[in-house]
Amino acid sequence: MNLIVAVDEQWGIGKEGDLLCRISGDMKRFRIITSGNVLVLGRKTLESFPNKKPLPNREHIVLTKNPKYSAEGVILCHSLEELPLALERFEGKEVFVAGGESIYQQLLPFCEKAYVTKIYATFPADTSFPNLDLLPEWELIEEEAHEENGIKFSFVLYHKKK
Ligand SMILES: NC(=O)c1ccc[n+]([C@@H]2O[C@H](COP(=O)([O-])OP(=O)(O)OC[C@H]3O[C@@H](n4cnc5c(N)ncnc54)[C@H](OP(=O)(O)O)[C@@H]3O)[C@@H](O)[C@H]2O)c1
Repeated sequence: MNLIVAVDEQWGIGKEGDLLCRISGDMKRFRIITSGNVLVLGRKTLESFPNKKPLPNREHIVLTKNPKYSAEGVILCHSLEELPLALERFEGKEVFVAGGESIYQQLLPFCEKAYVTKIYATFPADTSFPNLDLLPEWELIEEEAHEENGIKFSFVLYHKKK
């Protein structure tokens, strides 16, 4: 299982149910990496998508504890324990943990690779991601610098040490 996330300089990821900023190059990379694969996300992150709908050309497994919750075009999971069973049907596809904060926190221990977009700016944020540079089990493998409309950012790949 891998994860994909965009963080600011403080490892903030969101504010009031939305992203901190939108960088089209980052959105494009997210689409390329995750298309044809499986996203695992929290109910709040699903509801942050355009029209609260799943993204095209990807399978979505959405975590919610609410047994009455329903959403079109996604598979619902009511606990982490249900997740392995839900993933069984997608054998052969890559699985990406796609947020938000609560889901990253719970699934980080099960992830092997982290595709992190580091945005070199600081935004007011109410949700964050663990700083992988401070976690000894994670190592930075590659980093690619970009700039768009004056915002500097890098695509950074981390691996969990074996
Ligand atoms: N920068 C990025 O790359 C990025 C990516 C994704 C999201 N975000 C941001 O992150 C923020 C949302 O994060 P969040 O932590 O508030 O919400 P979230 O993780 O998206 O969703 C939280 C919800 O997931 C469900 N849930 C969590 N753990 C569960 C478990 N073990 N079993 C069953 N259901 C579980 C619960 O749904 P119920 O309440 O329905 O029970 C919980 O309220 C937004 O601002 C979003 O834009 C940023």
